[in-house]
Amino acid sequence: MYSEKVMDHFNNPRNVGEIENPSGVGTVGNAKCGDIMRMYLNIDENQVIQEAKFKTFGCGAAVATSSMATELVTGKTVKEAMEVTNKAVMEALDGLPPVKVHCSLLAEEAIHAALWDYSQKEHVEIEGLEPPVSDISEKEEEEEY
Ligand code: FES
Repeated sequence: MYSEKVMDHFNNPRNVGEIENPSGVGTVGNAKCGDIMRMYLNIDENQVIQEAKFKTFGCGAAVATSSMATELVTGKTVKEAMEVTNKAVMEALDGLPPVKVHCSLLAEEAIHAALWDYSQKEHVEIEGLEPPVSDISEKEEEEEY
C-alpha cells in the first residue's frame, strides 16, 4: 500500500523537533481527520532556508510528508520553496494512496504558513504566497484529485 520511501520517512522521520526563535513558524490542521502539523524554518539573510523542523500530530502519511517536505525545502530560497507543492512531496515519496493525498496537502500548507510568518516578520514579499488558513479541510474540497 505504501512505497518504501513513505515507510522509511514514517519509521525514521527526518528533522523532527522545534527551532528556538525560528524565522518563521506555522501550524495548520485538518478538522476532518483532526491532524495537525507545525513547521519551523530558519531562513538566512539571503532568503535561503538553512533549517527546517516539524512536529506532526497525525497519521503516518502526514509524518512522512512533513519529513520529506523539510528535506525538500532545506537549502532552497523562499521562492524555490514555493515550488515544493504537495505533488512534489508525493512524487519524492514515490506516491501516496488516493485517500492519503490530503495528508501531503497539510505539508504544503504548513510550509506556506511558516513562510507567511517569516514574510510578515521580515516584511518580505513572496510571490504566490497567500495568508494561511488554520483548517485546510475547507480548501481541500475545492481541489480535485
Ligand atoms: Fe489527515 Fe493524514 S489522515 S493528515
